[in-house]
Amino acid sequence: MEKRSSFKGSLGFVLAAAGSAVGLGNIWRFPYLAAKDGGGLFLIVYLILAVTFGYTLLTSEIAIGRNTKQSPLTAYKKLSEKFKWVGWLACLVPMIIMPYYCVIGGWVLKYFITFLTGSGVDAASDSFFTGFITNPTESIMATVIFFLLCAIIVIGGVNKGIERASGIIMPTLVIFVIIIAIFSITISNEDNDVTRTGFEGLKILFIPNFDGLTIGKFATIVLDAMGQLFFSLSIAMGIMVAYGSYVSDDSNLGKSINQIEIFDTAIAILAGVMIIPAVYVFQGEEGLAASGPGLMFVSLPKVFAQLGIFGQIIGALFFAMVLFAALTSAVSIMEAVVSSFCDAFKIERKKAVNIDTIITLILSVVVCLGYNVLYFELKLPNGSVGQILDIMDYISNYIFMPIIAFATCILIGYVIKPQFIINEVEKNGSRFSRKGLYVIMIKFIAPVMLAILFLQSFSLFG
Ligand code: PHE
Repeated sequence: MEKRSSFKGSLGFVLAAAGSAVGLGNIWRFPYLAAKDGGGLFLIVYLILAVTFGYTLLTSEIAIGRNTKQSPLTAYKKLSEKFKWVGWLACLVPMIIMPYYCVIGGWVLKYFITFLTGSGVDAASDSFFTGFITNPTESIMATVIFFLLCAIIVIGGVNKGIERASGIIMPTLVIFVIIIAIFSITISNEDNDVTRTGFEGLKILFIPNFDGLTIGKFATIVLDAMGQLFFSLSIAMGIMVAYGSYVSDDSNLGKSINQIEIFDTAIAILAGVMIIPAVYVFQGEEGLAASGPGLMFVSLPKVFAQLGIFGQIIGALFFAMVLFAALTSAVSIMEAVVSSFCDAFKIERKKAVNIDTIITLILSVVVCLGYNVLYFELKLPNGSVGQILDIMDYISNYIFMPIIAFATCILIGYVIKPQFIINEVEKNGSRFSRKGLYVIMIKFIAPVMLAILFLQSFSLFG
């Protein structure tokens, strides 16, 4: 078996982990939740949870990875035979996520190419998105190409593949995000004698809105923020364990973790600055109410179409940026599985990539067919109605991930004890600044919050 690779420098690790964390969650989900959940109010709740709850889980996984030098499938077993099953789940979850993430990546690729080839205006028509996903050949092709881009990076390994790709992609992404955000706040539009400016849109994002705030509504905001954080930091799916296992023992773990968190949060907020004012200027507050794919694949192309040639350029930049974000996230999902296969079955990276390719491609095709040949509608326990993609998303995000995170808290809090993680972070004199907070969070608060989040997936609290 090959010797375990490691990231060459802390920056390489931070950019790779941030590449995983910064993804579709930051770009369309965060701005949408912020607009829905009271703007600045959501932001405050999110930030508080990020530095407590998110930080605790992120630190735990990265430290488990670095300590065991194992991928998720074998890391948990090394810490405790009784928690072996958590490793299995942490390898299964990325196997479920990867196929549908590639399908969404394929959608982004299609939009990017549409804008790049100058036909961005077509994307503004109401039937463009549905026309594309209901066409099996086109959507399968886009998915396969996206997957191949990702597989090429993963097959390159930790240094030549992941570290190098994130080192180029992430700084470019930051530049694109800043350009688009500046553009978005400076535009304005007159519609039926009302002029709406990008700057006003910014207020929706930053000023806390307490209108009609009840305890129930506040609870929803907290749960939304918690679910978002979970997804956004790529925790509870083995990824941070896998990446942590490539961090060398002499790097400063505490510092890297802080940087990853700041990176992820800053991009989420900037994505809000990028999207909320633009949609508000052209479509008012109603435009912002469109959730999820609707916001990115339907509302935004309409905004770009109204901005003439400028809109087409910004549109191409925007979808290039989303493509980068999705690609580095997909790479991390695939790496969690590939590294697990290598460690558990003692096989070479190439062989592990081949096995995962077969699994992913078969499932991806099924997901694409879920919008056409195999179309059906299923009501999920949380009340939403979905297709195959939504079912896979629901099972991984709402059921397995809270279970993995909860089990991780119990494992650390009561079996191997928090001191184990503290020692790992403090190796080489690195500082663990929120140590006291960490212990309380991991033993008491995080498990309770996770249990509530889990029960909420079945809409038990309305
Ligand atoms: N963290 C990524 C985001 O914010 C999403 C992601 C999910 C990444 C699953 C990896 C795995 O979009």
